[in-house]
Amino acid sequence: MTSKEVTQIAPNHLAIIMDGNGRWAQGKGKPRVFGHKAGMDALQNTAIHAQNRGVKVLTVYAFSTENWKRPAPEVKFIMSLPIDFYEKFVPTLNRENIRIAMIGTRQGVPKATLKSIDRAMVDTANNTGMILNIALNYGGQAEILDAVKSLISDVQAEQVTLADITSEVFENHLTTAILPTAYRNPDLLIRTSGEHRLSNFLPWQTAYSELYFTETLWPDFDEKALDLALEVYAQRDRRYGGIKK
Ligand code: FPP
Repeated sequence: MTSKEVTQIAPNHLAIIMDGNGRWAQGKGKPRVFGHKAGMDALQNTAIHAQNRGVKVLTVYAFSTENWKRPAPEVKFIMSLPIDFYEKFVPTLNRENIRIAMIGTRQGVPKATLKSIDRAMVDTANNTGMILNIALNYGGQAEILDAVKSLISDVQAEQVTLADITSEVFENHLTTAILPTAYRNPDLLIRTSGEHRLSNFLPWQTAYSELYFTETLWPDFDEKALDLALEVYAQRDRRYGGIKK
């Protein structure tokens, strides 16, 4: 399949669990953080390829609310990556017309990390191409609970009635409400490194996503690996619970 054909059937919203950085580094006899650094380069390349293939939103799992359990130096290193990423890559993202967005809880994230993400969001705010949405300090179950709490408080304030609460209204209370309405839920979710689970990533939003698992470790994920995933996706038959026409 050529790149042009892939473009025509590309997922609008692609979500990626970038897994395997630690194993990649350890396999090379290097410290785990070496893998995270290589993972950052893979992210930049994948963002550019994904946009070239027609993806409108790319959401990546950079740090989960469960990742705080890792050794403090590793957490510190991952939290420093956005600073590095934006310093190095914002000019490229601007050249590529890519806009940065973030989902996840700001509370607990170091100030310097937030500052550089905020700066990147401001610096790329006028870009009209793909949205690179970074899930940082993100946890899907907490996101759903927060949405429930916020809806309950709207009901208590008599701003909405129970009868008003539809899936669409609920989705307006999720963190992905910052995305264009048509592209809020991933069409395709990729997880690298051979693990077959979602790990609390976008549990509501992936209800009808196509899932693609590859043995490739994230730092090795390249244009060819992305094209293969898109090719498999293009052959999937999405029925959303209906039947084939
Ligand atoms: C999972 O691999 C990866 C992470 C928890 C961190 C991912 C972060 C990046 C790729 C860089 C993000 C860049 C920005 C701009 C925020 P793992 O450490 O769980 O690997 P393992 O399963 O082999 O141990």
